[in-house]
Amino acid sequence: MDTVTIPGIPHLRLYLLATAVVLAIWVLARSFAKRYPHPLPPSPPAEPLIGHLRTVPLENAHLVHMRYAKEYNSPLVYFNILGNHIVVLNTNKAATDLLDRRVTLTFMRYGAQWKMHRTVLQNNFTKSSIVKYQYIQEQEARQAVSSIVRDPPQWLLFTRRFASAVVLRIGFGVTIQRDDDPYIQIAADANLATSKGGNPGTALVDYAPWTRFLPDWVINSITLRHAREWSWAIRRLHDVPFAAVLKEFDAGTSKPSVATTLLTKHAENEKQGLPNEFALADIQGASASVFIAGSNTTWGTTTVCIFNLMQNPAVFQKARAEIDRVVGTDRLPSLADRAQLRYLDYIVEEVSRWRPLSPIGIPHRSTQDDVYNDMFIPRGTYVYYNSYAMSRDPSIYRDAEAFSPDRYMPKEEGGAGEPFLSAPFGFGRRICVGRHLAQASVWIFAATLIATMDISKPADAEGKEREQHLKFSTGLSSHPGYFDLAFRPRSEKAKALLAQTMY
Ligand code: HEM
Repeated sequence: MDTVTIPGIPHLRLYLLATAVVLAIWVLARSFAKRYPHPLPPSPPAEPLIGHLRTVPLENAHLVHMRYAKEYNSPLVYFNILGNHIVVLNTNKAATDLLDRRVTLTFMRYGAQWKMHRTVLQNNFTKSSIVKYQYIQEQEARQAVSSIVRDPPQWLLFTRRFASAVVLRIGFGVTIQRDDDPYIQIAADANLATSKGGNPGTALVDYAPWTRFLPDWVINSITLRHAREWSWAIRRLHDVPFAAVLKEFDAGTSKPSVATTLLTKHAENEKQGLPNEFALADIQGASASVFIAGSNTTWGTTTVCIFNLMQNPAVFQKARAEIDRVVGTDRLPSLADRAQLRYLDYIVEEVSRWRPLSPIGIPHRSTQDDVYNDMFIPRGTYVYYNSYAMSRDPSIYRDAEAFSPDRYMPKEEGGAGEPFLSAPFGFGRRICVGRHLAQASVWIFAATLIATMDISKPADAEGKEREQHLKFSTGLSSHPGYFDLAFRPRSEKAKALLAQTMY
């Protein structure tokens, strides 16, 4: 190494390097040794300088955090990664107290643009405003189940297509017409782009956002490399359907959708010379985020629902008996029947509780110092909510591993009267905008399937049932892997009813 010397200071580079190291040690040591007015939440032992960098698990973080919470008998567990404060909330009460009521929290990784999209979207997805999308959900559910009748081994493809088609139509008014429709590939690529980014909070870029400007050979981060390699897929999802909807809007042929609603408002304001609070780019971003936030998540939940219906024939039969009693067998169930089919609602709620798809939530960040149960949460702390731990809380859910929709039945009707778990959809100001829509999609898919199809575990050549297991990927939201199952139409009449609905 060549050395720069100036009079009195030999080996300047070495000197600068040593100074930088000492400074870094000082900064980190300060952040660890800092005195707070209250103790931090309990935490596992940390290593010098790097803190819990090697303690925070890359896989199944929800299970590890749940274990720590139990070990320390504390709803909050604290970590420090390279001087960054991290708190994991492990009970519904702590998350409700802190995220719904107290700490001012912002959404990580996104920022102002995302906030704008939320505001734009919120009004479109209230319980009453999603009624206008019901016909889309019903048509797509029937289309998907009909496709399963036609080609059962492709059931996973058809459930994917169902989830994508619903949010593409609602976001942009775009309809998937055929099995080889180019939108299927656009949707599949965008789904891949959003599903394999690694566990939230485990990448350096989560704590040092400037590292995203470093080249791959310096940073070697799976999260960053994935984001770079797949950004084109998200771009295409933003651009292609929006270009189509703009063209149709200008021609006056666009179909009802979030994009059309917002474009109409935008055009009216322009016509009347009124200011527009959002630009065309915001409309484009908001419509795309319906797909990005709603496609994989709805698909994952639908798949977990199918798995549990297969594993629990008694649940399946009870739901079918309810449908037969309320709807009969001469027509297909619709979302208008929902108020009278409560057991199906319990199934949908139990699917989200049984396996929250964002098991440690989407990280929030505190914007002010706070104290909770005498534990100090410094300003700037990254706050995770462990919805998996909440779903397994023995003080709330008895036999929490079991898939048991009856747990929600009121006590006066002979049930356990356990509460629904809303944690899988987040907390506070950032709670999922699309939660009512998503639950309605899963509900109508399950209702259509149960009313028309028999499902069972697959059998081997000797007719013996093959056990199936469900594995989940790791990512911002985790997704169920493939499993095998057998589908048969319930009757010729059911098959005919489905066939009438194909478009
Ligand atoms: C079962 C399916 C779904 C699940 C499990 C789910 C879950 C979540 C979760 C955990 C969050 C983060 C909340 C937080 O930070 O506290 C979220 C945010 C969000 N979800 Fe969903 N979601 C689903 C479906 C949908 C659908 C269909 C849409 C379409 C409208 C949607 C739109 C959004 C948006 C826009 C946000 C961001 C909210 C914000 O940052 O302000 N989601 N979702």
